[in-house]
Amino acid sequence: MADIRVLLSEEQIDKRVREVAVLINKDYAGKSVHLICVLKGSIFFTCELAKRLDMPVTIDFMQVSSYGSDTVSSGVINIKKELDESIEGKNAIIIEDIIDSGNTLYYLRELLLKRNPESLKICTLLDKPDRRVKDVKVDYVCFEIPDEFVVGYGLDYDQKYRNLSYVGVVENLD
Ligand code: IMP
Ligand code: MG
Repeated sequence: MADIRVLLSEEQIDKRVREVAVLINKDYAGKSVHLICVLKGSIFFTCELAKRLDMPVTIDFMQVSSYGSDTVSSGVINIKKELDESIEGKNAIIIEDIIDSGNTLYYLRELLLKRNPESLKICTLLDKPDRRVKDVKVDYVCFEIPDEFVVGYGLDYDQKYRNLSYVGVVENLD
């Protein structure tokens, strides 16, 4: 088992998710929102955030390929799981776990905009601004983090560590 250094505790994440939910509740007051959970990394974040939203909420899931077992983003996304429902006319919010190079989000946003949502925003748990290659506007960021590979709270390394209740840095990647 690798050593994992805690970067963001469960308490810190919980507090911040509540704060961001308050912002979203304000921005969408009187409207409904359609959350697009980008699998698999965003599952925990989507659930925790959704529980704190007080307008009518619907949730759909999409999976796009980014990292495999290595730590390099490809730049082109491949849809592994398509949304079940149309987003036309909806106030959609893409829920991401982390924005790194920005490649995934850039292409995903372009793709979804073509489907005529009423609005499309982006909400991410983590942002690594130092690594950005593609300029993509992110509407809600819970935490900016340094350029380190993190796991937990949904994020994986080679499909492991998603179940950690906190976000941590793997000290000895093998
Ligand atoms: P991007 O296309 O480079 O922005 O990559 C975004 C995707 O890469 C995220 O949705 C994650 O799945 C994955 N990713 C990027 N950085 C990390 C990390 O530090 N830990 C785990 N997954 C990461
Ligand atoms: Mg992701």
